[in-house]
Amino acid sequence: MSAQFPAARPRRLRRTPALRRLVAETRLSPAELVLPVFVKEGISEAQPIASMPGVFQHTRDSLRKAAHEAAEAGVGGLILFGIPAVKDGVGSAADAPDGIVQQALGDLRSDLGDAIVVMSDLCLDEYTDHGHCGILTASGEIDNDATLERYASIALAQAEAGSAVVGPSGMMDGQVGAIREALDGAGHSDIAIMGYSVKYASAYYGPFRDAAECAPQFGDRSTHQQDPANADESLREVFLDLDEGADMVMVKPAGAYLDIVRRVRDAVDVPVVAYQVSGEYAMIEAAAEKGWLDRERTIMESLVAIRRAGADIVLTYWATEVARRLA
Ligand code: PBG
Repeated sequence: MSAQFPAARPRRLRRTPALRRLVAETRLSPAELVLPVFVKEGISEAQPIASMPGVFQHTRDSLRKAAHEAAEAGVGGLILFGIPAVKDGVGSAADAPDGIVQQALGDLRSDLGDAIVVMSDLCLDEYTDHGHCGILTASGEIDNDATLERYASIALAQAEAGSAVVGPSGMMDGQVGAIREALDGAGHSDIAIMGYSVKYASAYYGPFRDAAECAPQFGDRSTHQQDPANADESLREVFLDLDEGADMVMVKPAGAYLDIVRRVRDAVDVPVVAYQVSGEYAMIEAAAEKGWLDRERTIMESLVAIRRAGADIVLTYWATEVARRLA
């Protein structure tokens, strides 16, 4: 064998931690992380969520503390989910001026101002007694267009309470346009819309339904969320949302849909957001608890992979922890 062989030695750049750091193509930083948080009405203490160890249903006060910690760690944003004390058929608590999310939005804006981007999830499933993301017809189907009117009203309530970015997650056709029109018509043209544009009907949302107490009482979400078998229709959903005025587009879940994250990234010129959902969190936490995976390494690898696939912004329940580690 000649002394020159092999001519190419990619291992040269992997030899030391300093070299590996120098040539890393993808970096994580706290600013691109968004922490999803749950606030529940009528509880006096934060409640742990069994299927999401380390995540809580917050009281208004414990949420303020968690938000403060996230901001201090440099986390870029928070997205708020509310669990009301009383649910009904139309999700009345979702757009009540004194609804739990509206109150919490006011708290966070007055505590933190613009130190962290305060966002709100915009949907009905946490607020309806049937657990569906929209208003139902007499025969129990989701009434798309009646639901749009509810979403428009929720957007106004959230904007008035201080949300900087609303994130419609219900997968109703026309939701971004209806919300944009309502916001603009009420003088809120500065409030941004983060479209949950690509949202699959995913089993990975399982633990979230405990966290937000929003499991559908009958049926499922496959008449509005996307079939995991499909990829092309994700681009159709993204372009529709952009036409309707979305400022950012999301792909959800993240880990099992990295091909979709990449396709969307290559197709658009707005920020691409990926949501590392509750099931992705629970899988790693559970395996780590059993000693089957190295918790910290797996968390960091999962996030680098989502960024490498093309996500600019990542929603993750580990946002504060990871931001601290990166500091
Ligand atoms: C709907 C909503 C869901 C999630 C975020 N927004 C649940 C669903 O569509 O069933 C899931 C998030 C997660 O699993 O972490 N409001």
